[in-house]
Amino acid sequence: MSSLSIYRNKTVLVTGSTGFKGSWLSIWLTSLGANVIGYALKPKTAQDNFVAASVESKITQIYGDIRNASKLSSLFKRTKPDFAFHLAAQPLVLDSYKEPSYTFEANVQGTVNFLEAIRACPSVRSGVVITTDKVYDNPEKGRAFKETDPLGGKDPYSASKAGAEIVTASYAHSFFNDPKGPQIASARAGNVIGGGDWAANRIVPDCIRALQAKKAIILRNPLAIRPWQHVLEPLYGYLLLGSALALKNGARFSGAWNFGPSQGQMRSVEELAEAVVKAWGNGSIKIDKPKLKLHEAGMLRLDSSKSGKLLGWAPRLDFMATVAQTVDEYRQMSVFQGKLFTARQESIRRYFVSAPCAPLNKKRGIHNRILRGIGGGT
Ligand SMILES: NC(=O)c1ccc[n+]([C@@H]2O[C@H](COP(=O)([O-])OP(=O)(O)OC[C@H]3O[C@@H](n4cnc5c(N)ncnc54)[C@H](O)[C@@H]3O)[C@@H](O)[C@H]2O)c1
Repeated sequence: MSSLSIYRNKTVLVTGSTGFKGSWLSIWLTSLGANVIGYALKPKTAQDNFVAASVESKITQIYGDIRNASKLSSLFKRTKPDFAFHLAAQPLVLDSYKEPSYTFEANVQGTVNFLEAIRACPSVRSGVVITTDKVYDNPEKGRAFKETDPLGGKDPYSASKAGAEIVTASYAHSFFNDPKGPQIASARAGNVIGGGDWAANRIVPDCIRALQAKKAIILRNPLAIRPWQHVLEPLYGYLLLGSALALKNGARFSGAWNFGPSQGQMRSVEELAEAVVKAWGNGSIKIDKPKLKLHEAGMLRLDSSKSGKLLGWAPRLDFMATVAQTVDEYRQMSVFQGKLFTARQESIRRYFVSAPCAPLNKKRGIHNRILRGIGGGT
């Protein structure tokens, strides 16, 4: 793992370590030989990837609220991380309608607290703030967003993440502007799927719950088109970005980065559910009308050509490989009880040795798969 070897024997602080993405990132960093410090709230259920894969036994986990600035800052001072990744957030659109104030506190002030903690901690070489593809002002015309496109966010979650982006850009400009000092950047990725996510109102966890209970999968928004990607795809991007920021010329990597899937990953919720049923082997789907008419963007696409060109990042799993690997990882949870951490490491290894789906199509500025079927991974 050439450029990721920088993490070997380094201390890496991950906020949101108990969550879906944070637990996978912690496993990956541990595999790279890093000493991982996790900061997050307690996991919600025993099924969570963090618990099921016994991640806590492999890292130093501290439980705390991201809104508690002094606790977070003293953890940085005490553990002196070289790298920091910020994933802790209220990550759900529907919950943001129920708790807008909390969502803004956790996602905007939480990002301020993370960046302040880095400012007060001279050991840190790079910090990556994880936001989302939903940060863009989205007229839903199908155009792929570039990092320079205007930010927006109609629902409180999207707006809070756009807020986190503005905060990060402001801190980069105001406080992390010394080319020899620590560098920060933000990372925007799409709808992530993979084993061990049990969040409510997310399509794949909803599918798996229904399939396990032998019930029909209920779809509330079947036609919404999303850029589905396996969790390891953006995590690989975050790791590359974190390492690039720590280079001698790391300042040139400061700023915002898209890590979206290839064009072929743009599928409707219904197509995704059908693929999950196929990979599972049986099951049925029922289309339901949404109970609440809350706004959720219908169409989102990212242009990730900057990440491809400057970081050498490209998606590795095509749509069917993404779904097959995801379903396999959910199945592993019952098969590899007690050994799931090793199975997760093996998933990462298989992902990493699989060939990138395609080089960038520079003309159209999006990832296009030219080697159909070479997704690898399963
Ligand atoms: N999963 C996706 O599809 C997706 C897509 C785009 C962006 N993201 C972003 O990626 C990050 C991780 O998302 P996830 O899917 O792993 O979510 P998750 O709900 O599985 O994990 C969220 C993590 O944040 C922590 N957290 C939440 N509120 C906190 C608080 N007040 N104080 C401390 N910790 C707190 C939780 O304990 C957990 O560790 C989030 O920033 C999210 O916005 C996720």
